[in-house]
Amino acid sequence: MRGLGGPVGIALSGSGSALPRLSVSNDDLSGWLDTSDSWIRSRTGIAARRIAAGDETLTVLATRASRQALEAAGWTPLQLELILLATSSPDDLFGTAPQIQAALGADNAVAFDLTAACSGFLFALITAAQYIRTGCYRRVLVVGVDLLSRWVDWHDRSIAVLFGDAAAAVTLETCDSDRDGLLAFAMRTDGARNGCLTLPLTPSEQCPRQGISIQQGSYGSIRMNGQEVYKFAVREVPAILAEVLDQAGVDAASLDWLLLHQANQRILDAAAQRFGIPAEKVLSNLAHYGNTSAATIPLMLHEAVAAGRIRPGHLIASSGFGAGLSWGAALLRWGGRQPG
Ligand code: COA
Repeated sequence: MRGLGGPVGIALSGSGSALPRLSVSNDDLSGWLDTSDSWIRSRTGIAARRIAAGDETLTVLATRASRQALEAAGWTPLQLELILLATSSPDDLFGTAPQIQAALGADNAVAFDLTAACSGFLFALITAAQYIRTGCYRRVLVVGVDLLSRWVDWHDRSIAVLFGDAAAAVTLETCDSDRDGLLAFAMRTDGARNGCLTLPLTPSEQCPRQGISIQQGSYGSIRMNGQEVYKFAVREVPAILAEVLDQAGVDAASLDWLLLHQANQRILDAAAQRFGIPAEKVLSNLAHYGNTSAATIPLMLHEAVAAGRIRPGHLIASSGFGAGLSWGAALLRWGGRQPG
């Protein structure tokens, strides 16, 4: 670690993604659930989702996405100084980032996990940015990956239709302050509403000997009050986006893109409408992947960069929200090179 210097700029310089092979359509789901393609599409905008196979672990997918991001940034793994892994479905409860560090051969990087469910990527990006801003690290990889298929009750139609698996990564590096890529941000938590969306430990008691009671347990499946989460998102996302735009003194008409956590197309539409942002500026890939939790924002970012839609200098308002309850927003400027 270097000593603290003056504030420096943060460039979002490269991106990558990795998707499981298996795509499961709404019609596939209606093979065993009492649901239909038209219900799922009209209520959520989702048409299909990817589901990871046994050989597609969180580490495998995250490492693939990370390699692609490093390549896009033009870095070798040994140049990395920090890997921040946003996930709520780790391969190892003690942390999965170290396995990704080893798989990449990023021997000089410290690597750790950050858990904030669907807000995880945005929270990790903002956290990583602080290390760069203060001069601690110059090259950081932020990975958003979740395999929520591990924790979905596949016989609960109110949950199973929503989620999918994916990994994506973004590189952040030091740059001149006039090219800064993080123009404003805000983060919020409301733990009093934690029960709206949880994946709690189900306790079980072990008594190996009389008088000794050990509290153990295991994780079951995601529990959600869909309507409460929907109302929360529609209320809080526009409010926090307005706050970051105000912080930066930027009006909505100057935005190139609105990049929201991909949970429900109706939430994306409501937020865009509130700001008068035309539909063509609202990034959405929800139809293909569903809600991939910490992966949605970097996955959408990567696809838009690869397609030449997001270009260097573009201004992007982003918001993540979900379990916690937690939510956040950032005003970003893409600083990567044009692909190809
Ligand atoms: N297929 C068919 N019917 C379904 C269904 C499915 N997959 N899931 C629920 N239903 C039924 C319900 O049983 C209910 O039936 P009833 O009226 O006979 O009781 C009816 O559809 C309406 O259910 P409701 O929960 O009111 O639907 P909704 O319009 O609120 O949509 C969600 C449900 C989950 C799509 C919506 O609440 C939502 O998207 N919430 C946010 C969830 C989210 O994004 N979570 C992650 C945040 S990071």
